[in-house]
Amino acid sequence: MTVEARIADPSQGEHDTCTLEAPDECYCSSFVEGASEFAKEGRLDSTYASFLGFDVRRLQRDFGTYVDDLRDMGSASRVRQVGYRDCVFWLVDDGTYVGQSSIRPELGTPYLITYGGHIGYSIRPSHRQRGYGRRILQLTLERCREFGLERALVTCDEDNTPSRRIIEANGGDFESGMLMDDIAARAEGRAGERVRKLRYWFELPTA
Ligand SMILES: CC(C)(COP(=O)(O)OP(=O)(O)OC[C@H]1O[C@@H](n2cnc3c(N)ncnc32)[C@H](O)[C@@H]1OP(=O)(O)O)[C@@H](O)C(=O)NCCC(=O)NCCS
Repeated sequence: MTVEARIADPSQGEHDTCTLEAPDECYCSSFVEGASEFAKEGRLDSTYASFLGFDVRRLQRDFGTYVDDLRDMGSASRVRQVGYRDCVFWLVDDGTYVGQSSIRPELGTPYLITYGGHIGYSIRPSHRQRGYGRRILQLTLERCREFGLERALVTCDEDNTPSRRIIEANGGDFESGMLMDDIAARAEGRAGERVRKLRYWFELPTA
């Protein structure tokens, strides 16, 4: 079976102009707009900004440092330090920042291997419900092969219907649903909630 046959093509011609790019200072203006949108819905950390110690004002002031920090998250030395690297990409359409995906090739922590998976993604609020979510996962799965992965684990919360649709439209094979333990729920800022993670696998054969 060909690679193309195993990964469904959900784009149906939409967003053919989208590319996944490494974080770069040239996207500062649209990125900061997008980050402000995430901040307004209380999800600035979809960009890892909060994790890296940035709020929107500091992103505007010190964007170069933020981009360097994001790139460091994907460096091989992180695997030795914390057990995994997190390689961030930006979805760009016509020069505009649309969203973020990241690949964690190593799954080097109990959280990642159980609940987090190889891939994360988010689309900035003003650009949702236009098919970009389906497209970003498709492009990110293609990138996984470049990291030597043969299979990719992608997870979503059971109640995250858009994400579930994105995974299923891209051809993910459902494996199981797992109730998050309290430590993992707290790590996601959802202490006390009963969150079930759905786990899906994608086969990523080499051509
Ligand atoms: C989840 C997310 C990436 C979806 O992005 P998006 O660009 O809106 O996704 P798409 O436009 O490709 O939509 C995918 C499907 O979900 C549906 N959908 C999207 N938003 C929806 C909503 N708010 N309510 C109901 N359905 C919705 C779309 O109609 C589409 O359905 P279809 O398969 O029947 O066509 C985006 O909402 C987001 O960034 N959320 C916050 C971060 C997050 O949850 N990330 C995923 C972690 S696993």
